[in-house]
Amino acid sequence: MPNTMEWNDVKTSIEKEISEIGVERGEFVVSAMTKAVANAMNYFLEHSHEQDLPALDIGTGTAYHTALLLSKKYPRVISVDINPQAITYAKDRINRFLPDIKQFEIGDFQSFVTQSEGLEQAVNFYNYDLNKVAQNKDFKYALASFNPPILYPFHKVTYEKPATNGVYFENEDIKDERNDLLYQLYDTIAKNNLKKGSHILCIWANLNRHLVEKEPFKSNDPEYVHPSVILENWFDFEFENEPEPFEDFYCHKTVLGAGFFNQSETGKLYSANIRHGIENDYYSKLLIPSEDESLAGTYFNFGVLHLEKTSDNENKFKIINGSSKG
Ligand SMILES: C[S@@+](CC[C@H](N)C(=O)[O-])C[C@H]1O[C@@H](n2cnc3c(N)ncnc32)[C@H](O)[C@@H]1O
Repeated sequence: MPNTMEWNDVKTSIEKEISEIGVERGEFVVSAMTKAVANAMNYFLEHSHEQDLPALDIGTGTAYHTALLLSKKYPRVISVDINPQAITYAKDRINRFLPDIKQFEIGDFQSFVTQSEGLEQAVNFYNYDLNKVAQNKDFKYALASFNPPILYPFHKVTYEKPATNGVYFENEDIKDERNDLLYQLYDTIAKNNLKKGSHILCIWANLNRHLVEKEPFKSNDPEYVHPSVILENWFDFEFENEPEPFEDFYCHKTVLGAGFFNQSETGKLYSANIRHGIENDYYSKLLIPSEDESLAGTYFNFGVLHLEKTSDNENKFKIINGSSKG
């Protein structure tokens, strides 16, 4: 049995595997996004002193970020995904690339932590969605991270192929922010499950109007704001420091389109979704559409909102500016 690999080897192996067999079975990596989240996670690993608590990878998908945490010696990782197929692939991948790390099959987070005590490292994968995770109100994490689906669900999806599901989420009314997965993330995990010194990081794409406009759906000439302003509007969150400028936050760019994902099924859904969203004014004007039928060339910017909680009892945070750059 091979020994557990270093991160650079794991990263290369995952990317190679996805390019060879992943696309066929519905997996893909948006490299700009994985890199941005990985940079922020590296910042967490270098600065956090709370490694007694588990790290939570929400929407683990390809297990890329779980693999990063584990191969950089993070002791305990809990990885969840709404898609059972993604969980099957993710477990298998970690088993092959990081075989020395014990995987558990325990249905409750506290039992996993207790039973894995004494082991240097352990991981547990759960076919859970965010709601199910959020039911554990008293359980604390040192890190919670989420690279959420980026498009609204204008089409019915199946769970068969991870990528096909990974870009949508059930959302009945996109104009109500309470249906937004990011609203739910901060309303639950950020409020309940972080201690002073815990980190939370999440991709914010500037195409979803809730995430980028100060008063979404109200104006044709909207004011665009940093995510901390959105969180202040949604909740009673307080920030100790100033955010970086809007343009600096949205420093990453990604391209959408069938050609880009090299997956006809997912590509078609993407294209139809984007067209529908643009026609109905659901997406922000910061999405730059392409004239091209395949929509290759349509792009938007994103940033990673990286926060450190600064109080055990109150919703106070420090904004970690720029940790996802580089
Ligand atoms: C954009 S992918 C990110 C995958 C991987 N973490 C990465 O960065 O490459 C989003 C993932 O979130 C999962 N997901 C979607 N909705 C979810 C939910 N409500 N709860 C948990 N996971 C969800 C999808 O199945 C998908 O694997």
